[in-house]
Amino acid sequence: MSADPYWNHNTHYHRWLLDRIPSTARTALDIGCGDGLLAGKIARRCESVLGVDLDAEVLTRAIPAEGVTYRRTDFRHLEGHFDFVTAVASLHHVPLREGLAALRGLVAPGGTLAVIGLWRMSRLGDPLYLPLIPVIRLVDLLHPTVTDPAPLAQPRETLREIRTAAREALPGARLRRRLMWRYSLLWHNRAPSE
Ligand SMILES: C[S@@+](CC[C@H](N)C(=O)[O-])C[C@H]1O[C@@H](n2cnc3c(N)ncnc32)[C@H](O)[C@@H]1O
Repeated sequence: MSADPYWNHNTHYHRWLLDRIPSTARTALDIGCGDGLLAGKIARRCESVLGVDLDAEVLTRAIPAEGVTYRRTDFRHLEGHFDFVTAVASLHHVPLREGLAALRGLVAPGGTLAVIGLWRMSRLGDPLYLPLIPVIRLVDLLHPTVTDPAPLAQPRETLREIRTAAREALPGARLRRRLMWRYSLLWHNRAPSE
């Protein structure tokens, strides 16, 4: 049983994200951190976690945790490198290629980027997803529905467009369509010696 205060389509992927943290990671960045639920979990594995969000209001609800610092900023203007960078349901809030380039620049050599994202879905464009919809409804039913208080946006790009842009910006990235209307993107920034 999860000890989380709530469940939603994003928290559903916290375990997946935590399992992607490199064992050597000391610094982490959570982009669009919202109330900081994920940042606090990452801090149990990394020495320092920076949670950034553009929205001042949501940051007033950010959960304090040892090792976690919150900052109100646009991640596209952030400087520095982090061993583990994550962005959950936040990449689609900015123009895709600009967002991917910014993410790339934030991952330290040898570091990992793990994104849980949304794409613009359509019944015609995503026929393979249709059989999954009853499964998603079932998972929803099994959880108390608590919505995320963080600002939302509608995704603009199809999964095919995201795949193409990710291939260009993040060579070697692995992108997978997943349940709960989400995709995962995993990229390892190979250190020069690797
Ligand atoms: C849908 S919410 C997701 C929040 C959280 N990651 C979660 O899983 O519940 C997207 C968040 O991204 C933030 N955001 C949008 N654009 C941003 C940007 N350019 N830089 C930093 N945060 C941004 C929003 O303010 C919002 O809190």
